[in-house]
Amino acid sequence: MVRVGNVIIEGDVALSPMAGISDSPYRQITKRFGSAFSYTEFVSTEQLKLGNAKSLDMFRFVEMERPIVFQIFGSDLDTVVNASEIAAEQKPDIIDLNMGCSVSKVSHNGSGAGLLKNIRLAGKMIEGIRNRTNLPVTAKIRLGWDANSLNYLETLKVLEDSGVSAISVHGRTKAMAYTGIADWNAIGEIKSRANVPIYGNGDVQSYKEALEKKKTYGVDLVLIGRKAIGNPWVFGKTPKQFFPWYQIKDVILEHLDLMLNFYPTSDDYALILFRKHFIKYIENIGFPEDTKRLLLSVASVNEFKDTLEFVKMDSTILETSELNNENINCETFVSLV
Ligand SMILES: Cc1cc2nc3c(=O)[nH]c(=O)nc-3n(C[C@H](O)[C@H](O)[C@H](O)COP(=O)(O)O)c2cc1C
Repeated sequence: MVRVGNVIIEGDVALSPMAGISDSPYRQITKRFGSAFSYTEFVSTEQLKLGNAKSLDMFRFVEMERPIVFQIFGSDLDTVVNASEIAAEQKPDIIDLNMGCSVSKVSHNGSGAGLLKNIRLAGKMIEGIRNRTNLPVTAKIRLGWDANSLNYLETLKVLEDSGVSAISVHGRTKAMAYTGIADWNAIGEIKSRANVPIYGNGDVQSYKEALEKKKTYGVDLVLIGRKAIGNPWVFGKTPKQFFPWYQIKDVILEHLDLMLNFYPTSDDYALILFRKHFIKYIENIGFPEDTKRLLLSVASVNEFKDTLEFVKMDSTILETSELNNENINCETFVSLV
C-alpha cells in the first residue's frame, strides 16, 4: 500500500503514462488486470488554457480507473497552475507534472524533461498546483538532462520542499531518450534519500521482475510502459504466453469494443487507433502473417471481428521470446502540435 497525500494506492505495479496508449479504454483493461492506479497520457497545459476539446477529452475516465492521476506538461508557471484548476474540475485523485518527456518539441521548449534544467520553476509549479487544486501533486522525472548534469538528488530535495506527494523516476537522462539501459542503482539512491513514495520505472519486462525491482531497490511501486503495450497480463502473475489464444482474442475484442465506445465515429476510426495495440497483442505468439496483414488493412469493424474469430492457433506454438521495444518511444504514436 502506498499513501500519496490522502490517496491510498493498493498494489505493486502500474501502467506508465504513454501518449497514444494509456487512454481510458486501455487504462480500464490494465486496471482490471492489476495495474495499481491509472495514469493519463500527458496533456498540454497550453491547449487546456485554449479550451482545446481534444485535450480536455484526454481526461475522460470511468470510476473503475480510480485512483486516477492526470498528467500535465508545460513551461509557464501561470499556465500550468491555471490549467491544473481546469483539470481538477474533472475530479482526478492526483495531478502529476511531467518532467520527463524527452521529445525535442516538448523538452527544448522548457517543459517535460526541460524542467530538469529549471527545477526551481518545477517546484513553484508543484506548489502552485497544490494550492490551487488542494489535490496531491506528483512528478515524473528522469535522472537529469544528460550524463554531465545528473541532478536527481537536488531535484528530489526541491520537489519535496515544494510539497510533492510522490515521484516517478524513469532511470535515464533526457539525452538518452530510450537508448541504453535504465539505471536502477540511481533509482534506488533516490529512494534511500526520499521522504515521499518513489515509483521506479525503466525496462521492466514482467510482473516478476517488477517485484524483484521493488525488493532490491526499495521503491514503493514499479511502473511498466512499453512492455505493457498489447500485454495487460504483465500486471499479473501469469505471463501472456501461458494463456490460450481464445483468451487473448477475448481481451483484444474487449479492448476494441471499449475503444469503439470511447471514440464513436460513423467510420469506426477507433479501429485505426486500435491497430497499434493489435500489433502488440499478436506479437511473438505465432499469429499468421497473412491474417495479420489483412486485419491491419480492413476498415470495417465487423470484417475485423469476423476475420479474428476464424483464426485458429494451437497454444503450444506460442513463442516466449521477448518483445523488441527498442524502437518505440514517446513520439511513436503521437504527433505533438
Ligand atoms: C509511446 C510512449 C509514449 C509515452 N508517453 C509518455 C507520457 O505521455 N508521459 C510520460 O510521463 N511518459 C511517457 N512515456 C514514457 C513512459 O511512461 C516510461 O517512462 C518509459 O517508456 C520507460 O518505461 P518502460 O521501459 O517500461 O517503457 C512514453 C513512452 C512511450 C514508449
